[in-house]
Amino acid sequence: MSGIRIKGTGFSVPEHIITNEYLSQIVDTNEEWILTRTGIEHRHHLSKESHSDLCTWAARMALKNAGIQPDEIGACIVATLTADDLVPSAACALQRDLGLPQDSICFDLSAGCTGFVFALHTMECLLANNKKKYGLVVGCETLSKIINWEDRSTCILFGDGAGATVVEFDENYSSIQAIYGASGNDQILRVNGVDPNKRSLIYMEGKAVFKFAVEVVPYCLDEMLKRTGKKIDDVDFFVFHQANARIIDYVVKKYHIPAEKYYKNISEYGNTSAASIPIVLAELWEQKKINKNSCVLCIGFGGGLTWGGAMLEFS
Ligand code: ACO
Repeated sequence: MSGIRIKGTGFSVPEHIITNEYLSQIVDTNEEWILTRTGIEHRHHLSKESHSDLCTWAARMALKNAGIQPDEIGACIVATLTADDLVPSAACALQRDLGLPQDSICFDLSAGCTGFVFALHTMECLLANNKKKYGLVVGCETLSKIINWEDRSTCILFGDGAGATVVEFDENYSSIQAIYGASGNDQILRVNGVDPNKRSLIYMEGKAVFKFAVEVVPYCLDEMLKRTGKKIDDVDFFVFHQANARIIDYVVKKYHIPAEKYYKNISEYGNTSAASIPIVLAELWEQKKINKNSCVLCIGFGGGLTWGGAMLEFS
């Protein structure tokens, strides 16, 4: 048995705050609708920062908290679909900006809001065949760049941000237990690719995605408990992708998960897609709600359609 554990976490969000009140001036909506239907009070959007800045700031914080130097990193994955450039990738830009070793493998991974969970599993596989034992896994999204401002049902949802983790591989750790899936459904959630005649914008049928979410999150949770032989009480903390407070409320009610074992920061950041789970992990660590002995179950779902769960430990 061998596997990874989280050694350090960090996060970063842009300074500029977009309030519900501001949105109600530019689209036909109101503060109360947004808050009650989504749980979002405000979100942060890029102004003078770049995607690359957010990645770098979050990764620097994670490296510092882990006590690891950039030259100790063997691989870097950025889960994202909104990097500044297609080439170089966000991970290669991070390699340059942090001074990661030239022989480290660096690439972006696109799996929507499940990206960070997919990236953790991918990193575990990479480090199993790497002479270095530390890896950098970042989730960063700047969805404000691809918001359709003519669609009031989606433009209110998304925020920008980055969350980063330094992971440590060890022959004596057990592998992260994980479950993954994807369906290739492009009917209810998609962002079209580069096209000289058409802007890339988020298209989402919110109700259908909501229905998908409240089916797939319990599925992932049940499968993860079955796979690990754990019960709800054995899990120290549940980290759900922050897409809508009502999705989290539904799941915690269904499983009787007590308030001190889950967390919502959607009111402050909105849906930051691939960044949402690592931002929550970084905040939980900072607030000392999780520690080295914690067993944390993360569940992500979103564009692809994709879904995944991972039981994480910390070192
Ligand atoms: N302000 C006011 N009214 C609105 C707004 C708005 N911003 N948006 C929609 N409405 C209206 C609709 O037009 C509709 O009006 P009608 O009844 O007269 O037709 C009414 O509100 C209800 O609309 P619904 O779409 O049914 O609203 P719902 O309660 O489902 O909330 C939402 C919409 C917030 C998008 C919700 O469906 C949701 O959160 N879905 C899940 C999103 C998700 O999980 N995404 C994850 C993946 S994202 C990724 O991967 C990048």
